[in-house]
Amino acid sequence: MNPPPQDIQNFLTIATQAAEAGGKVLQSFWGKLENVQEKTPGNLVTEADTASERMVLDILKTAFPEHRILAEESGASGEITSSYVWAVDPLDGTTNYAHHFPVFSVSIGLLFEGQPIVGVVYNPITNELFTAGLGLGAFLTQNGQSQSIRVSKTKQVADSLLATGFAYDRREVKDNNYAEFCHFTQVSQGVRRLGSAALDLAYVAAGRFDGYWERGLSPWDMVAGIVLVLEAGGQVSGYDQGAINIASGRVLATNGLLHEAMSQTLSRITPLLVPVP
Ligand code: IPD
Ligand code: CA
Ligand code: CA
Repeated sequence: MNPPPQDIQNFLTIATQAAEAGGKVLQSFWGKLENVQEKTPGNLVTEADTASERMVLDILKTAFPEHRILAEESGASGEITSSYVWAVDPLDGTTNYAHHFPVFSVSIGLLFEGQPIVGVVYNPITNELFTAGLGLGAFLTQNGQSQSIRVSKTKQVADSLLATGFAYDRREVKDNNYAEFCHFTQVSQGVRRLGSAALDLAYVAAGRFDGYWERGLSPWDMVAGIVLVLEAGGQVSGYDQGAINIASGRVLATNGLLHEAMSQTLSRITPLLVPVP
């Protein structure tokens, strides 16, 4: 049984506080980075990532000491047997951030028994706060004004604006998303690569993108965005339309109307490169 709505609302309230506090930390380091390191080739970490994560985890751990947390920079912590797992990306879009390209976010999602139930994605540059809770709807709040968000009504891939991204292992693996990117670039009105998976998903929820797919993602990249898309009336699955498997790292999120067509294409192209897990 899912937690009651008042519990979900409470998780959402605290997650929002944590995302905004993390966003303030990112603003404080913006343009002033002194320590940029590579975790693996092309995969950066900065003092802003770690400081934002410390702030977010501090707030979550104080409010929910009995919950499990999975955070990008510090890994897993908290109660291993908890039904609740927070997935935290303190800075989604580090490459953009390190290059002073103003597209990045703080992403905080909550899983209950493996199911995404709360999602908050905050862009501190635009001050756009995307929030969703299971059964509570999806909202965009900016400068104190809150509005409900819905996915787009685009019916054909030919009329769509899509988004994707490329994982850091793209130089080593055959399954690098290049064939899929080329295909959708040919058949849609455009494919964007923002560099923040959480914002890509939030933008599908807000109807700015009609569809988004990516492989090689981690739970902290997608848990929050999944709740946003579902609560905004969209559809989320693996490439094959089967239930989303967060551990597989693959996600297809659309307005629902494009799901079948995009899934058919991904199911045709991707297995030629690597068997779908
Ligand atoms: C990355 C971004 C990017 C996506 C990568 C992610 P990071 O996260 O979300 O858009 O294509 O796969 O790893 O490293 O900036 O937190
Ligand atoms: Ca990320
Ligand atoms: Ca990150």
